[in-house]
Amino acid sequence: MATSGFFLVVEGPEGAGKSTLARALADRMTTASIPFIQVREPGGTPTAEALRQELLIADRAWTAEMELLYIATARADLVSHVIRPGLESGKVVLSDRYDLSTLAYQGAARELPLPMVAWVNHAATGGLRPDLVLVLDLPAAIGRDRQLTAGKRQDRLDRESGLFHERVETYYRQVRGESVHHLDATHSPGELLDEAWQVLQKTSPRFSNPAAPHES
Ligand SMILES: Nc1ncnc2c1ncn2[C@@H]1O[C@H](COP(=O)(O)OP(=O)(O)OP(=O)(O)O)[C@@H](O)[C@H]1O
Ligand SMILES: [Mg+2]
Repeated sequence: MATSGFFLVVEGPEGAGKSTLARALADRMTTASIPFIQVREPGGTPTAEALRQELLIADRAWTAEMELLYIATARADLVSHVIRPGLESGKVVLSDRYDLSTLAYQGAARELPLPMVAWVNHAATGGLRPDLVLVLDLPAAIGRDRQLTAGKRQDRLDRESGLFHERVETYYRQVRGESVHHLDATHSPGELLDEAWQVLQKTSPRFSNPAAPHES
């Protein structure tokens, strides 16, 4: 279904600066009076937050398939109850992670077949594609150092091996697509915000002239 909003996703490996950039973009949209909602994956609804807790914290006999389907269930809930309604009401929906995360973590890193992961993603989203995906490229080791310096409590996926995180990083680095734009995450937070904002302004007039009516 056509929507009048704008679906913006920030992706990248652990500690790349996704949440930092998402916060800065949210601040800039607030300043520019651009209506938006902000979500993170997995999460964003009571069910999805409960699944997130299980997935990232609980000590279970996890398999890659279980992870995939937990995440897909959380995403299906978020898409139907938050993302689609937000887009249909004309807002920007800013999401910290979306379907590329599943391809990177459960596909590339856990080695589930990518076509199967893509199919499950499609089932979860009903085919809803982002208008723009900002991929933050950063060597896995630097991201891990950033998390450690920040004192982040390591979740189950954070604690995976260096090889796992390198596979995630490599997947993100090579991913291409019409709506995918790569940013060099070694740049400072301020530089990244300006670079991201320039891309947004090139992609949709609503970021240059927020009061103007917009088509999608
Ligand atoms: N561009 C940057 N340059 C240097 N440090 C940064 C940059 N962006 C974020 N940081 C710092 O790196 C740490 C991780 O940032 P952030 O939490 O935004 O990353 P993330 O990608 O959301 O991580 P996670 O995968 O754990 O959710 C924080 O301490 C943050 O202040
Ligand atoms: Mg984060």
